Order: sequence, then C-alpha cells, then structure tokens
Amino acid sequence: MSELRFDGRVAVVTGAGHGLGRRHALELAARGAKVVVNDLGGDRSGSGVSSGPAQQVVDEIVKNGGEAVASPDNVATPEGAQAIVQAALETFGKLDIVVNNAGILRDKSFKNMTVEEWDTVIAVHLRGSFLVSNAAWPHLREQGYGRIVNTSSPAGLFGNFGQANYSTAKMGLVGFTKTLAHEGAKYDIKANAIAPVAWTRMTEDLLPAESAEVLSVDKVTPLVAYLVHEDNPSSGEVYTVGGGRIARIIVAEGPGWTKKDGLTVEDVAANWEQINAEEPFIVPRNPMEQMAPLMQALQ
Ligand code: NAI
Repeated sequence: MSELRFDGRVAVVTGAGHGLGRRHALELAARGAKVVVNDLGGDRSGSGVSSGPAQQVVDEIVKNGGEAVASPDNVATPEGAQAIVQAALETFGKLDIVVNNAGILRDKSFKNMTVEEWDTVIAVHLRGSFLVSNAAWPHLREQGYGRIVNTSSPAGLFGNFGQANYSTAKMGLVGFTKTLAHEGAKYDIKANAIAPVAWTRMTEDLLPAESAEVLSVDKVTPLVAYLVHEDNPSSGEVYTVGGGRIARIIVAEGPGWTKKDGLTVEDVAANWEQINAEEPFIVPRNPMEQMAPLMQALQ
C-alpha cells in the first residue's frame, strides 16, 4: 500500500504540547501536513499557562523538515478557539483537519466534587471541542472538505469511579461527533471519535509503570491519522485504540419487548429479562433507524 500523505493539508491539533496530541502533530507533519500546534501549557489539572510545550513541538517539527506554528491559546474560550483557527488561516491559508485532543483531569468522587471541578473539566473537553470545531466549521463547509477527530474516553463510554465530570464530557463528545457527522455529510466533512488508552502524564499514576512501552502514544496516532485522511470512508463512529488494538465501539439496541395496549408496571417487572436482552441487536445510525423496530412492532 502506498504511503498515506497529507501534502497540501492543514491541521489543528489541540493540546499538542504533550502526550497523545504531540504524537499526532509530529506524525501529521512528518506525512506532509502543515500543523497548528495548540497547547495552553498548564499542568495535568489545567493550572498554569506556558507557551513552552507548543513551541517545543513546533521546533521539533521544523527540525525534522516540517512546517508548524505554535498556538498557546485556551480551547475553552471563544477567543482562544478563534485564535487557534486563525493561526491556521493566517499562517497556512486554509484548514482541513481538526483534532480535538486537549484535556485535563480533576478527579473526585461524586460526593466530594465541587461545581468548579465539574465546570472546568466540561469546559476544556466538551466546550473546548465545540468551540474549536465551531470556529473551523464555516471554513470546512465552504471548501467542501473537512476531517474532525474528537477525543472521547472509555471512562465516558462506560463510566468510571471519580470521574463524573470527565465521563460526562467524554460521552457528550460521542453525541457531538455523531451529530457533526450528520450535518457535515453534505460537505465531505467527516467526524469521528477515539477512546484511547496510552501511557502519558495523564495516566502515569493510573496505569502500571511497566505498561509505558506497551501503551505508548505512537500506538494511538495511526488511527487518528487515518481518520483525518481523505481516504477514510467512515463518519460518526467511535473507536477504542491502544497498545496496537483498534475496535469500533457501537451504540446498540437490544430486541426489547412490546405490548401495544395496556402496559402496566407489572408487565415491565414480568418482562425485565427480555427488556434487558442484548441479542439480536441493531446499531441505528439515526433516530429514524432507532424507531424502526417500534414501528414494526406496532404494525
Ligand atoms: P496530556 O496531559 O499529556 O495532554 C493533554 C494536553 O492538553 C496537555 O499538553 C495540556 O497542556 C493540554 N491542554 C489542557 N487544557 C488545555 C486548554 N484549555 N487549551 C489548550 N490545551 C490544553 O494527556 P493525554 O493523555 O495526552 O490526553 C490527551 C487526550 O486524550 C485528552 O483529551 C484525554 O482526556 C484523552 N484520553 C487519554 C487517555 C490516556 O490513556 N492517556 C485515555 C482516554 C482519553
């Protein structure tokens, strides 16, 4: 298979000063993309600001013969998101690819979670992905081409102790991705999400130290690069990726149980097992497809 290249493409990667985002930026640049390396430069909890991490990644890209510009802006503010997109337009004249990757953690059991911890995490992951995509959207639509990857998480898809704020934001990104896929279809804008696992500063005290190599960030980036390539045929999907394994995660609906008339609480109790049955399942692509089994049952 011939090498998948990004010559002539311009990409924004948010949170690209460290970890996964840094790896995505380096890979896209190595394959010919011009890259806006965004990073606010704070610590793992989002405290502090520094232009250092974004600039270091830009320097690395340039040293390797690529093209990149640093954007030390905050994805969580409309001005910051606009500045990130403007950096692409002003420096490289266009924008094709958005990788929403910036993220922070403020883990706390739900009992102890403060409003501030909730708001800050939602602001960076969910609002930040919205704001950057929203700033990019008119340009992608106008040129009739775009690729967006949002970074979800297994914690969002399946829930995780101590991460009510984070998992809410990450599952929110699934709905966001699926709707962007619907609205972008007409303009060849494809949006997908990843739920990665990788050893980074975000997970270094959660994952065993010996998994650093097995779960290295370079085992996540190839999927992201494919999803933002023009050859990618898929949109509105979510993929789990880590350690070299990639799988599609589906939102499925079981066969269910129907009683057209006179449904009672006791009916629900008596049929609980069938209501919870997982097979055979369907994977609806839109609300109409989801309604189809009901319509059939009512006929
Ligand atoms: P990381 O902490 O190494 O990288 C996150 C980057 O985002 C940092 O460089 C940080 O400065 C930047 N950032 C934070 N707030 C920002 C803001 N407001 N504006 C601009 N940049 C900002 O962490 P990692 O692991 O590389 O995470 C990348 C993404 O992957 C995050 O969205 C994270 O939630 C997600 N993720 C990571 C997993 C893992 O196993 N490492 C698992 C599931 C999801």
